[in-house]
Amino acid sequence: MTDEGLSGTALFDAVVNLCKRRGFVFPSAEIYGGIRSTYDYGPLGALMLRNVKDAWWRAMVQERDDVLPLDAAILTNPKVWEASGHLATFTDPLVDCRSCNERSRADHLEPDSAGVIRCPKCGSTDLTDARPFNLMFKTWVGPVEDEGSVAYLRPETAQGMFVNFANVQTTMRRKPPFGIAQLGRSFRNEITPGNFVFRTREFEQMEMEFFVPPADSSRWHEYWCEQRLAWYLRYGIPEELLRLRAHEEEELSHYSSGTSDVEFAFPWGWGELEGIANRTDFDLKAHSEHSGVRLEYFDQATGERYVPHVIEPAAGATRTMMAFLIAAYHEDEIAGEKRTVLRLHPRLAPYQVAVLPLSKKDELTSTTDEVLDLIRPRFMCERDDTQSIGRRYRRQDEIGTPYCITVDFDSVNDRAVTVRERDSTIQERIPISGLVSYLTERI
Ligand code: GAP
Repeated sequence: MTDEGLSGTALFDAVVNLCKRRGFVFPSAEIYGGIRSTYDYGPLGALMLRNVKDAWWRAMVQERDDVLPLDAAILTNPKVWEASGHLATFTDPLVDCRSCNERSRADHLEPDSAGVIRCPKCGSTDLTDARPFNLMFKTWVGPVEDEGSVAYLRPETAQGMFVNFANVQTTMRRKPPFGIAQLGRSFRNEITPGNFVFRTREFEQMEMEFFVPPADSSRWHEYWCEQRLAWYLRYGIPEELLRLRAHEEEELSHYSSGTSDVEFAFPWGWGELEGIANRTDFDLKAHSEHSGVRLEYFDQATGERYVPHVIEPAAGATRTMMAFLIAAYHEDEIAGEKRTVLRLHPRLAPYQVAVLPLSKKDELTSTTDEVLDLIRPRFMCERDDTQSIGRRYRRQDEIGTPYCITVDFDSVNDRAVTVRERDSTIQERIPISGLVSYLTERI
């Protein structure tokens, strides 16, 4: 088997093309010509995105004693965004080109060799001064569109955790250190969305706020940096495509005393997958001041009272899914035949198993149904009975299905099937009665 590595634009184009061709990601409302940088997740994308979120949930909530889940509203009281600083400071510097009206982020414009800043579209130097542009989407709640009914689509899920700190802490009787985790949609009116689903205006985040005694915050920051880097490795991103990068002082957000990003080597260079920030007591203090409700921890046993500090690992689900796809994409050759294969972790692949009856003949139907009934409750399966078996293997390789089960004419009598593994292409004969344990051990 030989493996030809694509890189750069060729790799990016191949992944974007595969996403469209195989039903992972479609341009949104394509029949109307789409809408800039907005995407719909097709059948395979919806399955994979769900798997990415499940993998995060498993590591951050299910496998831990000290993190609790939350599902907060997207539309909330606008005072939340006043307290969090988003109304005043969640801005990007915007410049307009007076020649072609192109809008750009001033901090993304590079001077040319003569040190002159030009419009990236038409090259004109006639640009407006930079002015702050707030990234929050504004809307109105109820039938009257006036100042009193203004609301915002949340630009991050994090604030839902801060405003529910006291609710969660008291109802669940928790003492720091403990965390609150949530995943869901966030919205930002990005000036320059792009690079496929890397930067979009609507995206999904996976965030956790970990509340700790102030003196322990540095130790917990280090701990979460290690944990989060390990998660990407656990789900199959090679070490050389990942790095942890500490922010320079001038890069830090208004709430952060220290942030490290998990970065991935995207085809165009290093890009952020997740930020792990030490948010200090900024958020709980701000919400206490604005709401008038004390947000602190009081230890009845010791009489100790303090505002916990917060360590926040904040990841993007849609962006991370794209990184998993890019890392998994390979073109190789088996016995002289080229194939495209997504070497996805079995838990991330849209389908874990494909069941392929060798023929459409009725003789194989009941055994195929029996196999599917057996494994479907545990694994996402696809039944495919069209075209030659070789072509069906290639189709499953291309979407990353780790195991293909072939039901043939012998299966009816010997009660066994052939299981083919995606990466090695090795095939094994397995009794139907042993299939569930065979697959459970490997997926
Ligand atoms: N609560 C902190 C926070 O929201 P962030 O670095 O702005 O921090 C966290 O966002 C993660 O959300 C990013 O690392 C990225 O993966 C994802 N993200 C942010 N903006 C995005 C966008 N416009 N499109 C896709 N993903 C985005």
